Amino acid sequence: MTAPDTETGVDAEALRARAFASLTTARARTTLLTSCVEEPDLTGQHSPLMSPLVWDLAHIGNQEEQWLLRSVGGLEAMHPEMDSLYDAFEHPRAERPKLPLLPPDEARRYVAEVRGRALDLLESTAFHGTRLTEAGFAFGMIAQHEQQHDETMLITHQLRKGPQALTAPDPDPAPPFAGPAEVLVPGGPFTMGTSTEPWALDNERPAHRREVAPFHIDTTPVTNAAYQAFITDGGYETERWWAPEGWEHIRRHAITAPLFWRREGGQWLRRHFGATEVVPPDEPVVHVSWYEADAYARWAGRRLPTEAEWEKAARHDPARDRSTRYPWGDADPGPEHANLGQRHLRPAPAGSYPAGESPLGVRQLIGDVWEWTASDFLPYPGFAVFPYKEYSEVFFGPEHKVLRGGSFAVDQVACRGTFRNWDYPVRRQIFSGFRTARSADA
Ligand code: AVJ
Ligand code: FE
Repeated sequence: MTAPDTETGVDAEALRARAFASLTTARARTTLLTSCVEEPDLTGQHSPLMSPLVWDLAHIGNQEEQWLLRSVGGLEAMHPEMDSLYDAFEHPRAERPKLPLLPPDEARRYVAEVRGRALDLLESTAFHGTRLTEAGFAFGMIAQHEQQHDETMLITHQLRKGPQALTAPDPDPAPPFAGPAEVLVPGGPFTMGTSTEPWALDNERPAHRREVAPFHIDTTPVTNAAYQAFITDGGYETERWWAPEGWEHIRRHAITAPLFWRREGGQWLRRHFGATEVVPPDEPVVHVSWYEADAYARWAGRRLPTEAEWEKAARHDPARDRSTRYPWGDADPGPEHANLGQRHLRPAPAGSYPAGESPLGVRQLIGDVWEWTASDFLPYPGFAVFPYKEYSEVFFGPEHKVLRGGSFAVDQVACRGTFRNWDYPVRRQIFSGFRTARSADA
C-alpha cells in the first residue's frame, strides 16, 4: 500500500520500513534476554533496583498494547486488569517479584499476540493526521521503549549471580589512542534539541539556541587505567574531591571502587556477565555514579561537562554552524561509527571508531558508555508533554542528573545526538561512565 508523505518531509514508506525493522530488532533482543536463563531467573529478583525479567517482558507488551493497539488502533483492552500490574508507577521495582505476574510462557504469548496486531496496524495506519501517528511516532516510541527495556534487562543480567548466560564477540582491539587528550570547543551559540527528528521524545524538543562559553573536552571517555590512578592516589579517602552528599554516600556504603570491582592479588578484577576478568585498562570506565565521576573530575583538576557543552561537542559542526543528528553527520549509525545495540557486551577501547568522531575530533560520544553530565534533568524552553507526562515531566528536577550518548547496550533507535537519559546521582548499576571538561581561559 502507499501512504502519503508526512508533513515533516520525511518519506512515510521509509519511516514505515524503519519502524518495522526497529520493532523486529528489539523483539529479537527481548527474546534472547528472556530465553537465555531458566524460569527461576526470569521470575526472581536479582537486585532490589531491578524488576524481574518477566515483568519487563509483559510491561513491554502492555505498553505496546496501550499505545499501538488502543490509542492508535482503537481496540479494546485485552486484559484490563493487567494495566496496573505493569504500570511502572504503581509498584516499586523491589516489590514486583511478589505481584501475580504472568508466568513466562503466558507473558510470551501475550507479547506475541500484541505484536501480531501491532504489525497489522503498522501496515494500515497512515503516517499523518494525528500527532501520535504523524511520521509513525507511536511506532517509533514503542520500538524505543522496548529497546530501553532491553538495556534495563541487560543491567539485570549483569547483576545476576551465577554462570554466564550471554556471550558476544568483543570489540576489535585498538592501538593506544595517539591523538590529543582534549579539544577546544570554541564559544558561541549552537542549536540544542530538535524539532525535526521524527521520533525524538518530548524532552528532546524543541530545538533552541544556546550560548556556550569556550571549553575543552576530553577526546575520549575516561578509561579504567585513568580511574585506577584516582583510586591509587587515595581518591576515595580524600573528602575534598567529593560533593558533600557523595562523600556521605560512599562512607555509609563503604564504596571504594566502581560497582563490580574487587581488589585481589595486587590487581583489580571485576565481574562481567557471570565471568571474572582483570579490569581492562584501556576501556572506558563503567558502573560509576555521578558522585564518583564528579570526584574524579575534581581530582583531575577538571569538571564534568554541562549537558549543553556535551551536546555542542557532539552535534555542532563549526564549519557550517549547524547541528547534526550525530557527531559524524546526519547518517544513521553503522558499525563503523559506534558501539551500540548489544553487538558487544562491553565498551570498546578508548580511541576506537575514528569514523564516528566529531568535526573537532571527539570520539565515542555515541555508544560505549552513557556519559554523566554536570546538569540536572530539566525541560527545554518551550517543552510540551507528549504523549504522556510519566515519560519525562514527572522526572524533571534537581534530583536527577542527565546522561548522554548511549551505551553499548542501547540500540540506535533509542540513541541520537539529542537523546537525554537521566538517573539519581548515586546510581551505578547502569552502563555509566563519563568524560571531563574545563572552561577555556578567558
Ligand atoms: C529514560 C531510561 C530513564 O528506564 O526509567 C522505560 C526509560 N521509560 N519505560 C527508564 C523508560 C518508561 C527510562 N529512562
Ligand atoms: Fe517502561
